[in-house]
Amino acid sequence: MTDMNRDIAGLDPEMTAMAEVAGSDAEAVKAAREEIAPKKTLLDVRDISMVFGGLRAVSNVNMHIDEGELVGLIGPNGAGKTTAFNMITGVYTPTEGEIWFDGVKTSGKKSYQVTQLGMARTFQNIRLFNELTVLDNVKIAFNMHVGYNLAQAILRVKSYFTSEDTITEQAMELLKLFNLDKYADSLAKNLPYGEQRRLEIARALATKPKLLLLDEPAAGMNPQETKELMHMIQWLRDNFKIAILLIEHDMGLVMGVCQRLYVLEYGICIANGTPDEIKSNKRVIKAYLGGEGDD
Ligand SMILES: Nc1ncnc2c1ncn2[C@@H]1O[C@H](COP(=O)(O)OP(=O)(O)OP(=O)(O)O)[C@@H](O)[C@H]1O
Ligand SMILES: [Mg+2]
Repeated sequence: MTDMNRDIAGLDPEMTAMAEVAGSDAEAVKAAREEIAPKKTLLDVRDISMVFGGLRAVSNVNMHIDEGELVGLIGPNGAGKTTAFNMITGVYTPTEGEIWFDGVKTSGKKSYQVTQLGMARTFQNIRLFNELTVLDNVKIAFNMHVGYNLAQAILRVKSYFTSEDTITEQAMELLKLFNLDKYADSLAKNLPYGEQRRLEIARALATKPKLLLLDEPAAGMNPQETKELMHMIQWLRDNFKIAILLIEHDMGLVMGVCQRLYVLEYGICIANGTPDEIKSNKRVIKAYLGGEGDD
């Protein structure tokens, strides 16, 4: 066993033993660690459908996301990706099927109730409070967790000011992480496009989610910004210890960052698996990449 692997296994004797059994391969050590601590299912989407008039925008889709997983949702235009997001986040109630989040049935609940349970999202078309400052956009989201009530706010009791200070401090910390602190006092509408996208993610994180859903966060960004954003998404998952469901059109990008992928076409889930499995799936190649598939 190498020194490096001993470091990876840490001081946990069980881990060290498993690492030794597994040999000197760091990958094997990682796999052993995952075996010891099985991941909990956070999101469990059970056979959901959404019918608009005569159109089945989403049809009998099943999906699950474990704690801390980074999962992609891909598919051609109009495949039903945003509609699936809207059902998961409580914007729509599925016509059929159920959605469970962290052990609670969420289908049928309102969006704000789903947010309170620990889910946050960004939108395909950026939605910020344009006339508020960058700092206030984030503070509003923090306010979901404040320790004062309306009466205390009106009376301006001490706990109100303490909470306000804490929120401002935490919001500034978050802005710093996203390199947006220098814009704190600017109106959101005056931020450059890429920064507006980052602010939307920062605001979503302020609600302290266990699951973050990003609907085409790279839309409208240049290649360099997109590359940086993809690194940031992986960094978010690792540092905030959250699960992420990512809709992204660029197959190459999504393959590079996600652990697993679901592929939608005409509202139907035609494949799910690791990036390698998806890349070699004939149905996906035919449907999504426009290549030649056999079936
Ligand atoms: N509120 C709605 N009322 C009626 N039809 C809708 C509604 N929302 C979506 N649709 C239709 O459902 C289908 C799926 O749309 P959706 O926006 O979910 O696709 P998408 O995969 O997100 O596409 P894109 O990649 O273009 O964002 C489309 O045919 C769309 O026109
Ligand atoms: Mg969409």
